[in-house]
Amino acid sequence: METVTSIVEMKRAAGSLRREGRTVAFVPTMGALHEGHLSLIREADARADVVVVSVFVNPTQFGPGEDFDTYQRDLKRDSELAEAAGCDIMFAPEVDDMYPVGSVTQVCVSGLTGKLCGAVRPGHFDGVCTVVAKLFGIVRPHLAVFGQKDGQQVAVIERMVADLDMSVEIVRSPTIREPDGLAMSSRNANLSGVERRDAAVLFESLKHVVSRYGAGERNVERVVSEMREMIEARETTEIQYITAVDASTLEDVDELGESVMVALAVFVGTTRLIDNVVLGAE
Ligand code: PAJ
Repeated sequence: METVTSIVEMKRAAGSLRREGRTVAFVPTMGALHEGHLSLIREADARADVVVVSVFVNPTQFGPGEDFDTYQRDLKRDSELAEAAGCDIMFAPEVDDMYPVGSVTQVCVSGLTGKLCGAVRPGHFDGVCTVVAKLFGIVRPHLAVFGQKDGQQVAVIERMVADLDMSVEIVRSPTIREPDGLAMSSRNANLSGVERRDAAVLFESLKHVVSRYGAGERNVERVVSEMREMIEARETTEIQYITAVDASTLEDVDELGESVMVALAVFVGTTRLIDNVVLGAE
């Protein structure tokens, strides 16, 4: 595996791969890699000749008071894990190179970014879209793999790619979970013992919806209130939102149905966790 930190060098490598006719799959990350990220790298490896993984803790997608400064950074560990999962080129640019003095352009996907996490993290998705658009421009992948774990993020990226006619296929990869169902996240490490136990209720409540849907339930309000009851029964939880939307357009739905994403954001102690299920897919 090769590690590239210079943008110019990464562009040069991407150009050579294109000229050689090799297909490139790309997995953007912020590092602190876990099984969730590694599953995306394996998926990328199965779909293309060359896998590029980026590790870049993107300052522009963190709000004031969020965990940019304390975000776990360990490139050596991430490199070893990425390589074992099938990464060929690790791209780890510096903040000053990605955002040189004078850069003022932002990519803003309106509408879809004003709800769910976007409603409570203003500017977050502008930061995500801008950095992903830049990374696509540098790496020029044929396809890019994103996790369904961040269901709004992948929907927003799909919209951006369609609207800006970017020549990259977006692949959605399933959420990888701990044995008790908790979606893997670098932020799980911040949970205390009791919080970690309480956090399992997030997926339990989502599984409850899947089983109610399987039994014929179609009423959104009813299942959301059942989820609330389950989650609020745990001591350390505080619900930020629970919602049911179309998994692609993120528009609100009147009824549960195929391709409806039931998504939630919950504080467990001071740690904010998100999760979702797409009905008909699980
Ligand atoms: P990060 O949080 O590091 O996540 C990188 C990718 O891993 C995303 O596509 C995310 O959905 C996926 N992922 C995280 N946990 C997962 C899990 N448990 N199962 C499956 N996939 C999982 O998302 C970002 O970074 C950034 O916003 C980024 C896109 C890199 C732009 O800065």
